[in-house]
Amino acid sequence: MTRVATGIPGFDDLIEGGFIENDVLLLIGGPGAGKSTFGAQYLHEGIVNYNEPGVYVTFEETPARIMRNMWRYGWDLERLIKENKLRIIRAEPIAYGRYIEKNKDPNSNKETDDTTIETILRQIYSSLQEIGAKRLFIDSITSLKISPDPVNVRHIILEFFKNVENFDCTTLITSEVSKDHEHFSVEEYLAEGVICLQVYRIAGERIRSIEILKMRGVKHDEVLRPYVMTEQGILVYSSQSVIGKEADVFSKDMFNLRGKADDI
Ligand SMILES: Nc1ncnc2c1ncn2[C@@H]1O[C@H](COP(=O)(O)OP(=O)(O)OP(=O)(O)O)[C@@H](O)[C@H]1O
Ligand SMILES: [Mg+2]
Repeated sequence: MTRVATGIPGFDDLIEGGFIENDVLLLIGGPGAGKSTFGAQYLHEGIVNYNEPGVYVTFEETPARIMRNMWRYGWDLERLIKENKLRIIRAEPIAYGRYIEKNKDPNSNKETDDTTIETILRQIYSSLQEIGAKRLFIDSITSLKISPDPVNVRHIILEFFKNVENFDCTTLITSEVSKDHEHFSVEEYLAEGVICLQVYRIAGERIRSIEILKMRGVKHDEVLRPYVMTEQGILVYSSQSVIGKEADVFSKDMFNLRGKADDI
């Protein structure tokens, strides 16, 4: 089984060296947890260290803003784009939806949401083909949840996952978690692996933890490990534990940490 090392220092130690090739993985976390940084680092390291081209799909930020923010970590994404090793594509489900609705073929009975997803998937696929991408990063799937109907949302996410699974790529998808996140979402079941990033504030100090919630077919780490955001990106302390000297602080919420970051 081929492994795809993320190249994120310390992280690959948690998952026996890397993701399983062509898997679809989910990265969940609250605002500012480091999801976009993690994904950009995964693509950047793939290109620079493993010569694996990558595609970055953004639903929220503009490519210019991503390039500017990632430059802070010393990653020259603009150069990688010029060298045809990276593509950043902006997908805007709401804008597509409106456009398609306006120009809808009256003879077609296709749902707007389906057409929107199809357009986005086609756009991603052609970018992957263009540069022979091996890594794909999608930020974030939460933006696809535009329908007020939960059954429809489930259908959209399922459809999206099933298609992405068929791309010849190891894919990392982010998903936002809200403070009252109490139920697991459909994407958490669909993904081969789920990685969770959490931020706590303890005595005025920010503590970040990373946890592998699941990784099918992998004997993965099961401890909450600390990570830091440095000038060079994310660094995971794979042999240290968040629980330990902070045990007193964490113990009461040990079994109910998800989405409760700010309450602790
Ligand atoms: N150069 C840097 N050095 C250290 N930490 C940084 C640096 N740049 C950003 N950070 C930290 O990273 C955080 C942002 O990371 P990132 O954008 O990857 O998070 P995110 O989970 O994608 O956030 P969002 O939910 O808003 O999309 C900032 O809030 C800051 O704490
Ligand atoms: Mg982000």
